Parts: sequence; C-alpha cells; structure tokens
Amino acid sequence: MSLSILVTGGAGYIGSHTVLQLLLGGYKVVVVDSLENSSQISLERVREFAQDHAPKLSFHQFDLRDRPALEKLFASEEFDAVIHFAGLKAVGESVQKPLMYYDNNIIGLIALLEAMAAHGCKKLVFSSSATVYGWPKVVPCNEESPICALNPYGSTKLFGEEMCRDVYKSDSTWKIILLRYFNPVGAHPSGAIGDDPRGIPNNLMPFVQQVAVGRRPALTIYGTDYGTKDGTGVRDYIHVVDLADGHIAALNKLSDPSFGCKVYNLGTGKGTSVLEMVAAFEKASGMKIPLVMAGRRPGDAEVVYASTERAERELNWKAKYGIDEMCRDQWNWASKNPYGYEPCVSTD
Ligand code: NAD
Ligand code: WQD
Repeated sequence: MSLSILVTGGAGYIGSHTVLQLLLGGYKVVVVDSLENSSQISLERVREFAQDHAPKLSFHQFDLRDRPALEKLFASEEFDAVIHFAGLKAVGESVQKPLMYYDNNIIGLIALLEAMAAHGCKKLVFSSSATVYGWPKVVPCNEESPICALNPYGSTKLFGEEMCRDVYKSDSTWKIILLRYFNPVGAHPSGAIGDDPRGIPNNLMPFVQQVAVGRRPALTIYGTDYGTKDGTGVRDYIHVVDLADGHIAALNKLSDPSFGCKVYNLGTGKGTSVLEMVAAFEKASGMKIPLVMAGRRPGDAEVVYASTERAERELNWKAKYGIDEMCRDQWNWASKNPYGYEPCVSTD
C-alpha cells in the first residue's frame, strides 16, 4: 500500500514539483490549494508527466482556513503525513498588508495542526525559509545560527516554526521537520512546470526570465556596493527539483520511530552573486539581459548561504544540480511557457 500524503499548496511552484516527485516515488498524493497564487494547469501537467501514477493524485480547491472543508477532508481520508507549503510569500506585500500575511500563514497553520491532531495524523513537513537568518553575521548559516524576522512574512515563518516546536513539546508523539529553503530556482527539466508568479516578480530569476522572453525591458540590479566579489548580493540558489527531493528525504526521516522535531537547511552550500547568476542565465539561454544598476533593496542581506551538513548527514540528501542546470531548466520552462500557465499575453 502506498503512503498517502496531504500536500497543502501543492499547485504552487515548489508544491507542484514536489507532488510530481512524490507520484514518481510511488506515493498517493492529495493536494489542497486555494489557487490564490497558482493555476490548476500545473497539476494537469504533473498528471500528464506522471503517466501511470496520475490516478494517485487528487485535488481539492479550498482555503486551509475553511475549517469545515478541512474537517470534511480529514474525515474522508487518512493521511500518513502532511507537507505544508500553502501560504503567502511576497516579502514586500507582507510589509504593505501584514494582517493578510498573519491571517493566511498563521491561521492556516493553526487550522491544519488542529485538524491533524483531531484525526491522529501527527507527521508534518513545514516550509520555512532562509529568511529567518535575516542578515547573518556569520556564513554559512547553520541550523543553530541566530534567527530573526525582518518583515511580516519572515515573522510568519519564525512563529510557524515556534508553533510547531510548541506542539511537539506538548505531545511528543508528533514528528515534525522544519525545512529552511534557501533560494529555489529553475524548473522541472521537461519544461512543463515552473515558477509562474502573479504580477511583477519579486524574485531574481522569475524577473530575469521575463526579461529574456521580452515581457520586461531590463533587470534592475539592487545594490552594486556590497562587500562581495562583484558588489552584488550573494545567495544560495537551489534547483527546485533538488528541493522537491529534499521533501522525500524528510518524509523518510519521519518514519524513524525515535525522531521528534528538528530543523534542516535545504541549500547547496554555495554562494552565487546576482551578476554571476545573470551571466549563467545568458550562457544557458543565449539571450542578452539588459541591466539597470540601482541602489540596495531595503531589507536585503549582503551574503546568505547554507551549511548543508545536517541535511546531508541526517536526511541523506544533497543537492545534485549547479547554477548551469538551474539556468538551463529555467530557460527551458520560460521559452516553452513565456506567459507561464496562461495561454496568451497577460495584463500585468
Ligand atoms: P507558491 O505561491 O507558488 O505556492 C503556495 C501555494 O499555496 C499557492 O498555490 C497558493 O495558491 C496556495 N495557498 C496560499 N494560501 C493558501 C491557503 N490559505 N489555503 C490553501 N492554499 C493556499 O509559493 P512557493 O514558492 O511554492 O512556496 C511554497 C512554500 O515555501 C511557502 O510556504 C513559502 O513561504 C515557502 N518558501 C518559498 C520560497 C521561495 O523562494 N519560493 C523560499 C522559502 C520558503
Ligand atoms: C536574490 C538577489 C536581490 C530581484 C527572497 C525572500 C526569502 C525567500 C527567497 C521566501 C538579491 C537581487 C532580486 C531583482 C535583484 N522567499 N535582485 N533584482 O531576497 O534572497 O529572498 O526569496 O521565503 O524570504 O526574501 O531572493 O530572488 O528576491 O533576490 O538584483 O529584480 O537578487 O537584491 O541580492 P532573496 P530574491
């Protein structure tokens, strides 16, 4: 019998890649997504690619805060574990609309934890973020590095982690993995699924890809005076398929009877500057990315990259792909889907 996994936010960027890897790995997958920041087409593409495994995927469109809908789902199905991606993730928007972020990310998590507890499903993988390291004084960031929140989005991740730790402290039959993702980029090598943010992209690579396909005139480089090799910010970019595989490794860990509640970084351990990333994308795509040099973006850190030792040692997981593969797959997705999952020109 295949294990049954509930994936919240499974139609989104990281979720859809993880759902595909789960199906290919033989899991049964139930997705809950409000589609507030995604398209159901991602799951249709996942089904096509999963072929014989496709019947093991089902989808329910509702908001996690809709408690009757959540209760009905848990009453009708038994889950071996939950992977919780659902939430809002735009840092700038969280500063403008903090309560919307607290409402979605915190109330959504509470509703989920309560439904899980009520139905005796006590294995959870929670999407946290490297954002909790703020502007780190020491790199690489390891799981014991100091954590803080620089914006409401970051606060929801910090509180989310803390809530999970408290739930575990109150009932040690829970098994919870908190995954701190660094900078997910790239797409499935098929080019069928990828990142399709609504409106103006906040993150570097979705913006670069929209410049490459002619949707935007130039990339603005935020900050050229950092104390880094070329003056631009340094980050730990990780291929989204590696990240998806990290979730399978986490699920395996949750089956260890002695496991409790623990945090793991998912990154590559390598720092890459903005200009290096742009150069790698230009090489992979053969496209020229026009650049506009600008001042620093408020709240941005100088250098952030992960120590990956704990995940390698305890989850038996290590990222396989480098920035050339990330850019190759990002371009493959972009060139095949210049408007993301939309069939024609969007109005953003
Ligand atoms: P995404 O927006 O593509 O996916 C999130 C999904 O959750 C979307 O499909 C959205 O419709 C859904 N959703 C949002 N609120 C919901 C709710 N209340 N009920 C049901 N569905 C809801 O984002 P992503 O990049 O795939 O990120 C997934 C998770 O990983 C998020 O929790 C995010 O904070 C975290 N994360 C993302 C990054 C990143 O750079 N992409 C980095 C670190 C952590
Ligand atoms: C990367 C680098 C920018 C856009 C964010 C969130 C974090 C996590 C991942 C969710 C930085 C530079 C960017 C642009 C640029 N998400 N840049 N021009 O800021 O490391 O992290 O996404 O958890 O919480 O904060 O990622 O992709 O926005 O930026 O020059 O148009 O690219 O200054 O140095 P970041 P990013």
